[in-house]
Amino acid sequence: MMSPIPEIVLGIETSCDETSVGLVVNGTVKSNVIASQFIHSEYGGVVPEMASREHERLLAYITDSALGTAELTLDDVQGIAVTYGPGLMGSLLVGVSFAKGIALRNSLPLLGINHIEAHLLANQIDNSDLEYPFLCLLVSGGHTQIIQVTGYGEYDILGTTMDDAAGEAFDKVARLLDLGYPGGPYIDKNAVNGDPEKFKFPRGLMDSGDLNFSFSGLKTAVLYAIQSLTTDERKSELPHICASFQAAVVDVLVGKIRLAVEQTGIQRVTIAGGVAANSQLRAEMDALAADNSTKIYYPAFEYCMDNGAMIAYAGWQGFKHGQEHELDITATPRLIISAN
Ligand code: KG4
Ligand code: ZN
Repeated sequence: MMSPIPEIVLGIETSCDETSVGLVVNGTVKSNVIASQFIHSEYGGVVPEMASREHERLLAYITDSALGTAELTLDDVQGIAVTYGPGLMGSLLVGVSFAKGIALRNSLPLLGINHIEAHLLANQIDNSDLEYPFLCLLVSGGHTQIIQVTGYGEYDILGTTMDDAAGEAFDKVARLLDLGYPGGPYIDKNAVNGDPEKFKFPRGLMDSGDLNFSFSGLKTAVLYAIQSLTTDERKSELPHICASFQAAVVDVLVGKIRLAVEQTGIQRVTIAGGVAANSQLRAEMDALAADNSTKIYYPAFEYCMDNGAMIAYAGWQGFKHGQEHELDITATPRLIISAN
């Protein structure tokens, strides 16, 4: 006898430095508990070994908390979804092992989720009017990609970064400027009072004609600019460096999305990943929408960043499409997105 399709799905996300668990009931998010690990802040970036240990320490509590918020118990859960890649090996292993434990203990179906696919599907969580096809600009600490989504399981990567991710560039520049980690919000805040044209920073691959990105040259240009300043100047120029750097990143992101819209003719664009919070990016995207009638969707921030609800939601969709994994599924750090 075929088992019924799981309607109550628990989703586990531990691919990087967010430990998160969410619950979805019939496609509706009932809870989304996210613990961002701040222990990495003094290092200016994620320390993989510490991230795994933190996931290990937190995951059971976060799961309890997500169940409590959703007013459910583990016995109500009908399916387990877990990120199995891409991400940090040790971090993924903690989530995958934990998920297998619950699945085995409660005889539940298990589904490994591709983290990138979860980001794409998360756009639908509270944008029920979002129809296929759409473009997704995925910009986070780990990813910078433009993906064409034609239907469930139909994904086409149109462009990707050749080196650093956009969020990674924000984090590295913030580190050069002795701001905190993650750096994006600090740069965003400091840029408000800065002149975005004071420093002429490069726009990597802006005129390449394709949809790929490169941010490492920009990071180096910022480093050289900082090195040419005295200690006092570094303080007074801080807002201008932040504004000029941010303008260079945003120009490229918006320029490439404009090109993607032109090349594909698709006028629905979603923005996912932590960098979607950037105020300048939002302002420029809104301007793009106004002048070429493209509709821009911003998922709620808690579904943009790494979170368990998007894993539960992708799991719910996957189970509906008949997918399930065996208990021998393994953490796959370099998992790529492919058509189902
Ligand atoms: O999606 P996310 O929470 O986690 C992953 O990296 O997967 O994204 C985190 C990234 C960090 O690099 C952080 O600096 C960046 O998003 N970020 C921002 C802003 N808020 C977060 N970047 C620019 N402006 C912001 N306001
Ligand atoms: Zn992510």
